Amino acid sequence: MQRSFSAPARVNLLGEHTDYTGGLVLPMAIPFKTVAAISPRDDEQYSFASASYTSVREFARSDRSEGRGDWSDYSVGVLRELQKLGTEPRSFALMLDGNVPLGAGLSSSASVEVASGVAMLAYSDRKLSMKEFALLCQRAENSYVHSPCGIMDQFVITAAKKDHALLIDTRALTYQHIPLQEGGLHGTRVIVCNSMVKHSVATGGYGDRRRELEVGQAVLLQRYPQLRDLGDANLQQLQSCEADMPPESFLRCRHVVTENQRVRDAVIAMRAGDAKAFGALMVQAHASMSGDFASSCEEIDFLVETAVTLPGCFGARITGGGFGGCTVNLVREDAAQQFVERLQEQYLERFHVKAESYICDAVDGAFRANGLSEEAE
Ligand code: GLA
Repeated sequence: MQRSFSAPARVNLLGEHTDYTGGLVLPMAIPFKTVAAISPRDDEQYSFASASYTSVREFARSDRSEGRGDWSDYSVGVLRELQKLGTEPRSFALMLDGNVPLGAGLSSSASVEVASGVAMLAYSDRKLSMKEFALLCQRAENSYVHSPCGIMDQFVITAAKKDHALLIDTRALTYQHIPLQEGGLHGTRVIVCNSMVKHSVATGGYGDRRRELEVGQAVLLQRYPQLRDLGDANLQQLQSCEADMPPESFLRCRHVVTENQRVRDAVIAMRAGDAKAFGALMVQAHASMSGDFASSCEEIDFLVETAVTLPGCFGARITGGGFGGCTVNLVREDAAQQFVERLQEQYLERFHVKAESYICDAVDGAFRANGLSEEAE
């Protein structure tokens, strides 16, 4: 019998590039989907297929070959990590389908990993806690796809809750669901706007920024051994090490230290009913991503600069790994439709490209959506 499991995509409201040095992030799951349909096979094979690609990947259950460098690695990587835990699923055919925009910075990769993983867990009757599961999916991406991502995407896509953002402490891996509508952001909508400039974590600038940041963190930790990571550091401590690190490392670290503070302030703003303050933090976060972290691009900067001039917009910023992809915008509910139209018009005029835009609700993560229990039994 075939069974289907789904995983959403995500947008990050605040806290960018903070998730691999022990910092804070504030993403939510959004209503795009990857669907993984799994069915038994009666031979000793696994097979992986996708509605978006013609190639099918098939191999023996005993096979442990490396990645192929294509779409199938995200699912096969998850299988490999399950096998490392001693789970050897019976033969299966896994079929992927979905509508998460690819290369848009909305975590199509993590969505595939999580959907595939949830399907394989249910199929093999294996229970993992949400935390263990999200870490497993991250390991799949790090060690099988060789993409140096942090934990944010896999975690939120697994653990999110409808109508809530998810505040994650990426060192402790503790989290809180923060209501989006009851408090401060009542009467607003989250709008994602796609620059259509392709982004990838596996290649390009993401890994460079991560290395630059880690060089700075190493200098800081040598000076202040009591700090566990950059997530513990304050601006004064960082500034006292400025002369000892390469200038770009100082700037990357400054982005992270100030960004962690912005996430703390944003949660206070949400709880206090202050969409204006939340929006102002988004704008500061964008300036920091574009300046100190040097990971924006002309198209994204244009979208942000235009958005903040439009009626009803509280704030806008780049979201995700950077170098393209999407912006996230916080807009008054009654101005949302007009905001999208006007932003698209101006983008079209400037770049001759239609910037797809999505007015997003916050949806359940894959554990809730598929009725899996939060804790391992
Ligand atoms: C990508 C990575 C995440 C995170 C963001 C930047 O989405 O997969 O782990 O680092 O970029 O915040």
